[in-house]
Amino acid sequence: MRILVIGTGAREHALVRALATGSDGPHELHAAPGNPGIAAHATLHPVTATDGAAVAALATELGADLVVVGPEAPLVAGVADAVRDAGIACFGPGAEAAALEGSKAFAKEVMAAAGVPTAMAHVCTTAQEVEAALDAFGAPHVVKDDGLAAGKGVVVTSDRDEALAHALACLRSRSDAGSVGDAGRPDGGGPEPTVVVEEYLDGPEVSLFCLTDGASVVPLAPAQDAKRALDGDQGPNTGGMGAYSPLPWAPPGLVEEVVTRIAQPTVDEMARRGTPFAGVLYVGLALTSRGTRVVEFNARFGDPETQVVLARLATPLAGVLHAAATGRLADLPPLRWRDEAAVTVVVAAHGYPGDVRSGDPVGGIEAAQATGAQVLHAGTRTSDDGALVASGGRVLSVVGTGPDLAAARDAAYAGVDAVTLPGSHHRRDIALAAASGQVAP
Ligand code: AMP
Ligand code: GLY
Repeated sequence: MRILVIGTGAREHALVRALATGSDGPHELHAAPGNPGIAAHATLHPVTATDGAAVAALATELGADLVVVGPEAPLVAGVADAVRDAGIACFGPGAEAAALEGSKAFAKEVMAAAGVPTAMAHVCTTAQEVEAALDAFGAPHVVKDDGLAAGKGVVVTSDRDEALAHALACLRSRSDAGSVGDAGRPDGGGPEPTVVVEEYLDGPEVSLFCLTDGASVVPLAPAQDAKRALDGDQGPNTGGMGAYSPLPWAPPGLVEEVVTRIAQPTVDEMARRGTPFAGVLYVGLALTSRGTRVVEFNARFGDPETQVVLARLATPLAGVLHAAATGRLADLPPLRWRDEAAVTVVVAAHGYPGDVRSGDPVGGIEAAQATGAQVLHAGTRTSDDGALVASGGRVLSVVGTGPDLAAARDAAYAGVDAVTLPGSHHRRDIALAAASGQVAP
């Protein structure tokens, strides 16, 4: 197959690597805009990921059999619609379905209609409503920016003043930006800026990626993401500092429960609304003392969880994504998994998740690969003099595999320790609690 992957991150590098190494190949791979790591497997094209007309034109010119859209911004911008309108199969939901991620208020509305268990929430438009909601739920407080915020729009805090300040900042920035309300909504959003205040969910989190063609649902293996910047789950929320799979502590039957009670009803509700969701429904869960609850939906693969899930998938990826993009998931034989654990550790640039310093030299990649680790590029670019430099907050995602989580951790950290990036930081405790049996649902 001739496949075009859209995006620039380590998730897209993992997708391209899996497509390149699948036993159903070889495939002809292209990426736009891609990154220097992806260039090892795919031809890069300097096309803006969110420009639907340009992506569709490139796919047409290449004669692509399949376009795979990685990140949320192009999906919310309608890039998958543009590709499908050009008559080319596309893995990823159209703009109206991607609003499940683009608007937290819309996602809550769909969950309510589908009977999906999630945190109770108030969608607020004024400071008075925010204060009333904070007091109704009590501490710890959870305040969410309603639109896309790259995983950084959520504040979880026991400090009421901090929660209120974040809510007011969200309301202000949405009205300043002129983006009235939740602009990711299919109806273009309401007339006012909104912020979501919700009930705190206790218990460990799970990310479960559910592939769907708009009707059938095929779950991948669950993973867990480390969202906070610092060891011990301290510091601010980030896009994700590491991940691991499998989850030895997960209750048996979890995946079936999530498909039956959450993913399938959501997919059915989207189809009923005439906006079928095809692609991957990322179900972010909390296993609370009162049962399994949805923390969030995303309309795309998670980053960095994809890096560990695909490291364990034995079935060739191309056929799976093509089946989801063409309404044939029900015909797919059961997925096969390697009996291995995988751990990924994100190497972040100085300052991440705050003001990031760009341009620092990235070294040691060959040495890291020589340890057996996979080094996936996230925020790197080639400078004018040909050197590899940091160009984003999350710079590399180093993946280790092994017979169990402890061995996979050792493999990932051997790779990380060979990498050099001045001022960088990474967590040392990815999968540590799970490897030592200290996570309980
Ligand atoms: P989201 O962008 O909705 O995934 O939120 C980012 C992170 O904030 C989640 O992965 C959780 O760690 C945390 N979070 C979000 N909602 C809640 C909640 N209701 N209760 C506790 N933590 C939450
Ligand atoms: N790792 C969290 C996300 O992809 O949203």
